[in-house]
Amino acid sequence: MEPFRIKAVEPIPLRTVEEREQILAEADYNVFRVHSSDVTIDLLTDSGTTAMSAKQWASMFLGDESYAWASSYERFERTVRELTGFPEVIPIHQGRAAERLLFTMLLRPGRITAANGHFDSTRANVELLDCQALDLPSPEAADLVSEAPFKGNIDLDRLRELLDGPAGGQVAVVIMTVTDNGGGGQPVSLENLRSVREMCRRYEVPLLLDASRFAENAHLIIAREPGQQGRTPREVARAMFDLADGCWASLKKDGMANTGGLIALRDPETAARCRELLTTSEGFPTYGGLAGRDLETLAQGLQEVTDPAYLAHRADTAAWFADALSKAGLPTLRPAGCHAVYADAGQLLPHISPANFPGQALVCELYRLAGVRTVEFGTLTFGHDGQEAQHELVRLALPRRVYTRSHLEYVVEAVSDLVGRAGELTGFTITGPEPPMRHFTVKLIPLQGNQEGQEDHGNQVGHASQEDPESQEDPESQGDQEGRDPQ
Ligand code: F0G
Repeated sequence: MEPFRIKAVEPIPLRTVEEREQILAEADYNVFRVHSSDVTIDLLTDSGTTAMSAKQWASMFLGDESYAWASSYERFERTVRELTGFPEVIPIHQGRAAERLLFTMLLRPGRITAANGHFDSTRANVELLDCQALDLPSPEAADLVSEAPFKGNIDLDRLRELLDGPAGGQVAVVIMTVTDNGGGGQPVSLENLRSVREMCRRYEVPLLLDASRFAENAHLIIAREPGQQGRTPREVARAMFDLADGCWASLKKDGMANTGGLIALRDPETAARCRELLTTSEGFPTYGGLAGRDLETLAQGLQEVTDPAYLAHRADTAAWFADALSKAGLPTLRPAGCHAVYADAGQLLPHISPANFPGQALVCELYRLAGVRTVEFGTLTFGHDGQEAQHELVRLALPRRVYTRSHLEYVVEAVSDLVGRAGELTGFTITGPEPPMRHFTVKLIPLQGNQEGQEDHGNQVGHASQEDPESQEDPESQGDQEGRDPQ
């Protein structure tokens, strides 16, 4: 059961299927453009969507809004130091701001960042500086159905080859994303982290953690790594931080609050340079773009997130949800992590080519049928320069402490309905311009309504073309399109 009870409630919006068909068309089939007032169950992200505790709400009143050296900063700093052991603590308004700041300092054009998996904002910030973001996931990550416990690990052989090879001198930093959000929310083992630490020491490359979901990674280490049972999440988290030179985090996840981020480092000189940049772009170093009350909620949230009962419930919920969805016929990535369940849309919808975004077809249909908002984690989100993503996934993220088991049962029912008609779903094509991180804003159209798009665009991923048979209308696949044509 949930190890908390509910003190404040919000009504859930309910719409009809017909209303949602209209809403989807008006949103150009991009659920990032759908208003939250039209979403029944919002599994778009676990980021910034946490329900805060009574203690967090109460702490907001204690927020010290002084510009410099507010007591709220001191509480935040103390909490982060105790948790991570890093002496230098810099608050910042969210994760990607931390990425931009750190990379501006650490990277020069042509340098390389190597990671188990860069999240999309991490990659974007590396590439903005004309650098290369290299993902080196463990070979086990390619197998979506195996029960391998640490698919978030980095491939140590490839990392060694890289550091030893001709490009080795270009590697500016090794990043371990815990847990690996882009790769299915899979954890990294302490053993893997230790080996990376050793390698980084040998080749004199700094090791940073993207610690946005550090507590969930710690829980999964305790649950899965031999020899780690019986330790507390706090002890294991500390063991992870001890292996790194520093970290950054989006605190919109395991900070258990609605906004925030941090940079925490060992080296005072690097931290001093970070603070200079921070002051020009975010604010004075003791608030970094956050209000005193945000720092209070984060300090409290960072205590609550390592509660073993909370973490066990979160992991159990994700595991139960993944099993229930699989039983309903939706293939899901194994084993489940903590913050989300990832569905394999490529396997569910083999008749839709990756170039036509099977994940987006599943996302749109889940919304149309039941008002459930999820996010594509396939070629639309991760495809680069005309290349397809490795897998066509859809993430059903679990906001922290927000939905109960019965809300998730509703989602499972919707999925059961959908799976029976999976063969009727059609793919999508992009109709407008594509900015960086296109998935947030891009406009899409179901394939059969795309005569204009087919003429406008070349034969690239995501763009329908007259020469691309995969992107043409499939007359067999048109059964369920009534009311979905934006024309
Ligand atoms: N790193 C990881 C692993 C993330 O998952 C995210 C955000 C960021 C960095 C960036 O942090 O949003 O505070 O700027 N992930 C969100 C998500 C957006 O939905 O998974 P941010």
